[in-house]
Order: sequence, then C-alpha cells, then structure tokens
Amino acid sequence: MVAKMFGLGRFRPFRLWQEVGASQRKAGGFSMVLMPLAVMLIAAGCIGGGQPYPADYFPEMHYQSGIRYQEPPRLQPPAGSVPTKGTDVPVDPSQISAMRNPVTRTDATIAKGKTLYMTNCSMCHGQAGKGDGLVAAKFKNANATTLPNDLTLPATQSKTDGQIWGIITNGGLNMPRWGTLLTAEERWLLVGYIKSLR
Ligand code: HEC
Repeated sequence: MVAKMFGLGRFRPFRLWQEVGASQRKAGGFSMVLMPLAVMLIAAGCIGGGQPYPADYFPEMHYQSGIRYQEPPRLQPPAGSVPTKGTDVPVDPSQISAMRNPVTRTDATIAKGKTLYMTNCSMCHGQAGKGDGLVAAKFKNANATTLPNDLTLPATQSKTDGQIWGIITNGGLNMPRWGTLLTAEERWLLVGYIKSLR
C-alpha cells in the first residue's frame, strides 16, 4: 500500500541494473573498460607518492640498473688498448737499414716474436719460415710472380735487423704493411724471431 502510494509498485532493483547495463553496452561499452582503468590510474597515482613516476603501474622498467652513455660507473677499457705513450715516429727510409734493434734478443723475446709470427705471418711464410704457408699455395695457384719468401735463406738472413724491420713495416707487393697493424716493438720482436730461424 505504501509502495503503491509512492509509485514504487514496479520497483525491481535487479531489473534496473540489467537495463542500465544493456544501454551502456549499446553505447559501445567503453565505460565498462574506461572506468576501472581510471580508478586504477588514480589509485596508482596515489600509491606512488614520492616516486619520480606518478603512475607506477609497470615499475620494473623504471627502476632498472641500466647505465647510459658516459654515466658512472664507466667500464675501463682493457689494459693497453688505449695508447698513452705517443705514436710511432716516421723513420727516414735512408736511415732504416742502419737502425739498431732496441730489443735485446733473449729466449723470452724470441718466444714473444714466435707468437706474433705464428699469428700474423705463418699463413704466408709457413710455420717454420720456409715460405710454404697455406696462403702461399694460393699465391702459387694464382701464378703470382711475387711469392712469400723463405725467411731462413741467406737472402733474408744476411739483411740487417733494420732492413728486415723496414720491410715488415712497409710491406711489399703482396705483403701487407705491418707498420699500421703492429707496434714498432712488436716488429722488432719479429725481426729477432726471424733472425733466430737461421
Ligand atoms: C699475405 C701473405 C703475407 C703475410 C701475411 C706476410 N708476408 Fe711477408 N712477404 C710476403 C710476400 C709475398 C713477400 C715478398 C715480397 C713482396 O711481397 O713484395 C714477403 C716478404 C717478406 C720479407 C722480405 C724477405 C726478404 O728477404 O726480402 C720479410 C722479412 C717478411 N715478408 C716478413 C713477414 C713478417 C714478419 C710477417 C708477419 C708480421 C709477414 N711477412 C707476413 C707475404 C706475406
């Protein structure tokens, strides 16, 4: 009776909920998605108070330890990879053959020279310096007129240390210029090793 008086006779809350929901879905249903998202953003904004990022809902990318360019702590370059003792002074070609080998030949320096030789030279000049490396065979197959020398022969062994150093430094017709690839000291170490092949 009271309900009828206030016009609530047909008031059914569940029915109302259904109808409103249907009309919203017809309107594209965006508020169903947008509303929770808005609530989430506002909540996240409140929770993240004091942090540099206001909406901190995927925080793992914000607080990584990635180091940007020139930012400390910087990694040090490997020892010896940055020259600090100046560069090679160009040598007057007329002086080269008279140059003295600054590296005193010992078993240790010959061993160092051998390592350099095996790495950089043996593919052409051969493991034992006989001019028979794997690449030398390719030179022969291609009928090259200038072949890697047999470094044990008197033609090479009779040259002065300075002459050999000059050839290594400046390269040849078919030999690379090692002046730009190895340090002056490394080239002197190689001279010592070649002279030990006698
Ligand atoms: C790509 C092949 C190749 C490589 C690698 C190479 N050489 Fe040679 N080398 C030659 C050839 C070819 C000659 C002959 C000269 C020319 O090319 O004009 C030669 C000549 C020489 C000579 C002159 C010998 C003489 O009596 O006139 C010396 C010394 C020598 N090489 C040392 C070296 C050393 C030391 C290395 C390593 C750092 C080296 N070579 C790496 C190809 C090579």
